[in-house]
Amino acid sequence: MRAVTVSDIGAEPELTDQPVPEPGQGEVLVRMNAAGLNPFDWKVIDGAVPGTVFPLVVGTDGAGIVERVGPGVTGFQPGDPVFGQFGDPRRGLGSYAERAVAPVDTVAPPPRTIALSEAAAVPTAGTTALNLVDRVGDARRLLIVGATGGVGTFATQLAAARGITVVATATADKADLMRALGAAEIVDHSAGPIADRLAAPVDAVIDLVSDTRGLRGLLSAVSPGGTVLSPVFAVPEEGLPGVDAANFLNEAGADRLERLAREIDAGHLRVLIGDTVTLPQAPDALARSREGRARGKTVIVI
Ligand SMILES: NC(=O)c1ccc[n+]([C@@H]2O[C@H](COP(=O)([O-])OP(=O)(O)OC[C@H]3O[C@@H](n4cnc5c(N)ncnc54)[C@H](OP(=O)(O)O)[C@@H]3O)[C@@H](O)[C@H]2O)c1
Repeated sequence: MRAVTVSDIGAEPELTDQPVPEPGQGEVLVRMNAAGLNPFDWKVIDGAVPGTVFPLVVGTDGAGIVERVGPGVTGFQPGDPVFGQFGDPRRGLGSYAERAVAPVDTVAPPPRTIALSEAAAVPTAGTTALNLVDRVGDARRLLIVGATGGVGTFATQLAAARGITVVATATADKADLMRALGAAEIVDHSAGPIADRLAAPVDAVIDLVSDTRGLRGLLSAVSPGGTVLSPVFAVPEEGLPGVDAANFLNEAGADRLERLAREIDAGHLRVLIGDTVTLPQAPDALARSREGRARGKTVIVI
C-alpha cells in the first residue's frame, strides 16, 4: 500500500510502499478515505514519542471504511464508516496511508452530515478543544491564543456555544472568519503585545502557541486566580504567579468523538478545512505546518 513514511528521527517524509498492517486484538483495519494533519505529526517525526519504530507511517487522525476486524471486536463490522485516531508510533503505524489500524476505543461512527474527508480533520483538534473548553467551563471571558488554527477554531465555537465571551487572536485577514465562528473580540497578535490591547481582563486563557516567556507576558491581562492552560507545555514546574496554570495533555476517545459528531450533526460545530492535499503532497503540507501559519485544518485525501 502507499504510505507517507520517515526512515528515522528527523528524516524527510516520503511516499513509499508498505505492507498492509494486521488488525490485532480489539482493532479494526480501515481503508482510509483521508487523514487529518496535526502539528503532533511532525513532532513525532522529530522524536517526541520515545520508542518510535521506523520506518514510521506518519499521522494520527483519519477516517475511512472498516475493511476487516481483529479478534474480540464486536461494535464494528466491515463496511462501517469510522473516524478517529490511528497513530501508534511504537509500532511504526500511522494514518497517512491507504490502510491503517486503530483500537476500537479510539474510533467512532463519523458525523452523518459531513464528508469522510472532513471528518478526518476532527479527532485530535476537536477532542483537544472539547477537553480544554470543559476545563474552563465556568469562565465568563476566555482568551484563546492561536485561535485560528485547528484546535483554536473548534475551541472558539465550543466556548461561544456555552455563552463564554471569546477573545480570539487573529491577524486582520482572519478576523471576519473568527467572528463568524463566535469570537466576540479579536486581538491581532502581530500588532504588539496581546495583554496591552484587551478591552478588559479575562478569567481564563487557552494558549496554543506561547512559550513560558509569552505566557508570563499575558498574566497582566488575567484576573487573579484565573485559569491558564498550555497544551504546548509552557507552564514551568513552579507554576505562574497569581493564576491557576497547568500544562494540558489531551485524552481523546470514542466518547469524545461521539460528542463531537453530535455537535457537528446538530449544526453547532463547523469543521474548517483550510487546505486539502493528496498523499504525494503530504510532505510539503507537513513542512507548511511547521511554519505554524494554519487557517483551520489540513486534510490529506487518500
Ligand atoms: N498537549 C496536547 O495534547 C495537544 C493536543 C493538540 C494540539 N497540541 C498542540 O497545540 C498547538 C496548536 O495545535 P493546532 O493543531 O491548533 O495548530 P495549527 O493548526 O498549526 O495552528 C496554529 C495557529 O497558531 C497561530 N499562531 C502562530 N503564531 C501565533 C502567535 N504568536 N500568536 C497567536 N497565534 C499564533 C497561527 O495563525 P497565524 O498564522 O495567523 O499567526 C495558526 O492559526 C500545536 O503545538 C499542537 O502540537 C497539543
